[in-house]
Amino acid sequence: MKRTSYVGLVNESHLEQNITLQGWVSRTRDFPAQVFIVLRDRSGIMQVTVEADNPCFEIAKTLKQEYVIEVEGVVRLRAESNQTKDYATGALELIPSRLTILNTAKLPPFPVDGTPVNVSEDLRLKYRYLDIRREPVLNTLKLRHLVTSSIYEFLNAEGFISVETPYLTKSTPEGARDFLVPSRLNPGEFYALPQSPQLFKQLLMIGNVDRYFQIARCFRDEDLRADRQPDFTQLDMEMSFVDIEDILELQERLLAHIFRRAMNVELTLPFPRMKYAEALDVYGSDKPDLRFGCPIVEASQIFAQSEFKAFSSALEGSGVIKFLVAPELSRKQIDELERVAKQNGAAGLAWVKCTQNGESTGLEGGITKFLSDTEKTALQGHVKAGETVLFGAGPQGKAVGALGAVRLALRDMFGWVEGKTGFDFSWIVDFPLLEFDEERQSYTYMHHPFTSPMQGDLPMFGTPQMGQMRAQAYDLVLNGFEVGGGSIRIHNLEVQEKMFQAIGFSLEEAHHRFGFFMEALEYGTPPHGGVAWGLDRLVMLMSGASSIREVIAFPKNNRGVDLMAQAPSSVDLKQLEELHVRVEIKE
Ligand code: AMO
Repeated sequence: MKRTSYVGLVNESHLEQNITLQGWVSRTRDFPAQVFIVLRDRSGIMQVTVEADNPCFEIAKTLKQEYVIEVEGVVRLRAESNQTKDYATGALELIPSRLTILNTAKLPPFPVDGTPVNVSEDLRLKYRYLDIRREPVLNTLKLRHLVTSSIYEFLNAEGFISVETPYLTKSTPEGARDFLVPSRLNPGEFYALPQSPQLFKQLLMIGNVDRYFQIARCFRDEDLRADRQPDFTQLDMEMSFVDIEDILELQERLLAHIFRRAMNVELTLPFPRMKYAEALDVYGSDKPDLRFGCPIVEASQIFAQSEFKAFSSALEGSGVIKFLVAPELSRKQIDELERVAKQNGAAGLAWVKCTQNGESTGLEGGITKFLSDTEKTALQGHVKAGETVLFGAGPQGKAVGALGAVRLALRDMFGWVEGKTGFDFSWIVDFPLLEFDEERQSYTYMHHPFTSPMQGDLPMFGTPQMGQMRAQAYDLVLNGFEVGGGSIRIHNLEVQEKMFQAIGFSLEEAHHRFGFFMEALEYGTPPHGGVAWGLDRLVMLMSGASSIREVIAFPKNNRGVDLMAQAPSSVDLKQLEELHVRVEIKE
């Protein structure tokens, strides 16, 4: 069985030649004197024309959608009136001399021939192999392949070595729950699937690999969202003897290479950098969407003497007052935005409208009646007639968090980024090292416990100023998504121990959990740092998909279920016994 060309690659150079094609019957048009078959393979489609006097006519009449066939025949130019520019082979047709059915097919539960698919995502995922047969889905897999192959190409030339690290391992904390695997050979003991290869890549630096990368599968048991999967792929990298500049510069060149190779897009380098504090202050997010403006404005000064209860009590509690200037909003839209603000920790969403009063503008509605003339005048300097001011008041984190979410809701409400095709990368830098975990009443790491503090902040460990320590960490943000993150690492045991103590681990606990790693730090660890990107997220954004599931061949749905393979599933009692595991489901 030999095909001589992919279907979509047949061109005028094949004219009058005998070729053999294999593929699926995308569609047939059956007339008394002719059958037209649209044949499809990975590369595209082509028409096979079978006239009534053709020996293949009878068999052609039996073909149904998605039958797998082999056709041998001669390539002809179609009559001009029958030519189409809709697809690459539209001027040609194949006149068969031999047509063989390689396999029959059941009718797919949704069309795979390019007609719009109007079915639930669940159905698509149940029959994912048919979904992949559809051009847009296959195209994202092709794009993903282009991205990974250009990563290999670039990093190879830069002297990186690709190393595989284990999947059955010990917990690597990245802030999520572990997936655990019981060990049959070691009763009562469990492997953890890696949340990332973090410790291994650092050990590879101690092992003198110097420049490592891996397209690595990571596993995190966390609540799922459109940009999260329980098992997902990272491009993971680590380098020895580098500083932040070296790492960011290499990342930018790598991204430029990928976008050029995979999409023919030229990125503008260097990417802008923004301090974490500024990102929160101005955009209410550590992954700001910079494709539109609508910054958060500081207004605590304006309302220092406010008689509006929500404002005065916010300021008394060392909180802040901030606002966004939105376009004209209906009452319904304000209610919708208030719902968003409340979901994000705000007690409500105070507002005022700016209206035209003859020559000048005035404020109306909402909390206007609580504002003094001075406050109104100060506010009017920021708004134009028709615009609505939306306020956030309270502790800094809560106020900007809620306004940040409202800012994104406004983006979606007004379609500010619809049709925008740009890729606005930025680096977020100067992260805090630690954040306070109210639940545990203790500090916890902001990235992971192996991130190095800024050198000058080291003396702050164990002091009341510990919360102000800054990390040598950076996040890569694209169009409002965190695409990657990394840091310079701690390479000194003493500092590592202080870090563990800072996040509430005793030294015994730290050595119990990470003893192998802490021991390794004592054997000549080079200064090192690295980064990991969410590869699925990057490809999702490159392809314009709205969910990470679109760019993963066999994803889980948002309940973590693989609908095709029906995983997770229950297992035999015998299997559990062998694993020394008993299941008890509490109601
Ligand atoms: P981090 O935890 O930030 O860093 O992960 C790196 C990137 O991985 C992606 N990502 C995910 N993608 C899909 N589904 C998920 N559940 C998911 N979780 C994370 C994000 C994120 O930016 N070891 C460190 C990196 C380092 O310090 O070098 C790490 O894993 O795009």
